[in-house]
Amino acid sequence: MKNCLICNSDVKTFIDLGQQPIANGFLLEPQFKNEYFFKMEVGFCPKCKMVQLLEQPDREQMFHENYAFFSSTSNYMKEHFKNFASSIIDLQSLNKSSFVVEIGCNDGIMIQNFKEKNIGHLGVEPSRNVAEVAKSKGINVTSEFFDSKLAENAVSKYGKADAIISANVMCHIPYMHSIFDGIEKLLKDDGVFVFEDPYAGDIVQKASFDQVYDEHTFLFSVLSVSHLAQMHNLEVINAQPQITHGGSMRYTIAHKGKKEISKNVAKQIEIEKNLGLDSIAAYQEFTNKVLVVKNDLIALLEKLKYEGKKVVAYGATSKSTTVTNFFGITPEHVSFIYDTTPTKHNKFSPGAHIPVLPYEEFRKSNPDYVLLFAWNHAKEIMEKEIEYMKDNGIKWIIYVPDVRVVDV
Ligand code: SAH
Ligand code: TYD
Repeated sequence: MKNCLICNSDVKTFIDLGQQPIANGFLLEPQFKNEYFFKMEVGFCPKCKMVQLLEQPDREQMFHENYAFFSSTSNYMKEHFKNFASSIIDLQSLNKSSFVVEIGCNDGIMIQNFKEKNIGHLGVEPSRNVAEVAKSKGINVTSEFFDSKLAENAVSKYGKADAIISANVMCHIPYMHSIFDGIEKLLKDDGVFVFEDPYAGDIVQKASFDQVYDEHTFLFSVLSVSHLAQMHNLEVINAQPQITHGGSMRYTIAHKGKKEISKNVAKQIEIEKNLGLDSIAAYQEFTNKVLVVKNDLIALLEKLKYEGKKVVAYGATSKSTTVTNFFGITPEHVSFIYDTTPTKHNKFSPGAHIPVLPYEEFRKSNPDYVLLFAWNHAKEIMEKEIEYMKDNGIKWIIYVPDVRVVDV
């Protein structure tokens, strides 16, 4: 039995994803024998409705000077974050004397849009290698973990913020009370804290269990985020669904009573109650669907192996670490993973040890099937590859929300 990281009640486990390594821990052969694994179980808190990992590696094992994820690998995401930034500039009427803080700015993909408009800004990014990329774009970055202490220091150095923004970071942080405490201190009276993360509603509906990996401590819903905000004299004033990362939610939070609450909030909570996100049954149903996907994908990969077909994978995502290790996918099923991120090249995938090769070699690989690990970028990737796949009679294998072979 574990206590909820938010409200300390008993958390009920609904899925055990087995022994898992560091999802972004791409490694070399000599490192295999010391590879770190932890037991990855996910639970639901019946009181505050938060979905959470029961155990997690130390943060320094995940976020460091060799962090493998560079945000700007997706052109679609660059556009998405440009629009996100514009919406914040409009919402808060930001100008040169305003101050914006981004938590987890990575290589600067979002905050660069504020810098370009000469808006006062601070990026907080503990993974030093990606923070360096942001700095090289002229962005003001501190390479530290955001928490309550950092917020206090930022207030004395820069003053309070008109907007605090964050994308795909909040769900990574187990010490959520220190974060929200920091938000409460750093945010101006009329400031907004806007963040987005993969959404529990989409994950349950699509059985996209691969959104669970070491870095993702929480799967948020409007129900659970509202509860958390209230514990810090804050409140959710808007909730806007996003299509990114297979379905995300953008939460806008303000000091209690300071801003009008959009009708979207009550509407989304109603949707969540209809989906059953206020009780464990919906999550148990999700587990049943995941087990069907597991059976179907392994059966397909075994059949293709027996038939001597060549299967490769596309996108060495963190999500794919959960898939390969939970399903037992090996290099016998999938011979290579192709990816555009240089730091992942010529290394092996965590746990499953499938070799990762540069994307350029994909076009020479001549497979029969391509397993789409980066399914959240399906539109961008499928458009890019349509001609090559068509000309060579290559098929996609998709496993979200169910297992399908797709002819191009
Ligand atoms: N916002 C980017 C990056 C998401 S990856 C995007 O959406 O593409 C998650 C990032 O959060 C990593 O770069 C990691 O280093 C950072 N991170 C993890 N814990 C953090 C913390 N406590 N404060 C600030 N950033 C953190
Ligand atoms: P992503 O799905 O954004 O995140 P996560 O690691 O959190 O699951 O990762 C996308 C990965 O896919 C990244 O390693 C880059 C790679 N990629 C390609 O190789 N080609 C592409 O066209 C795109 C969009 C991504």
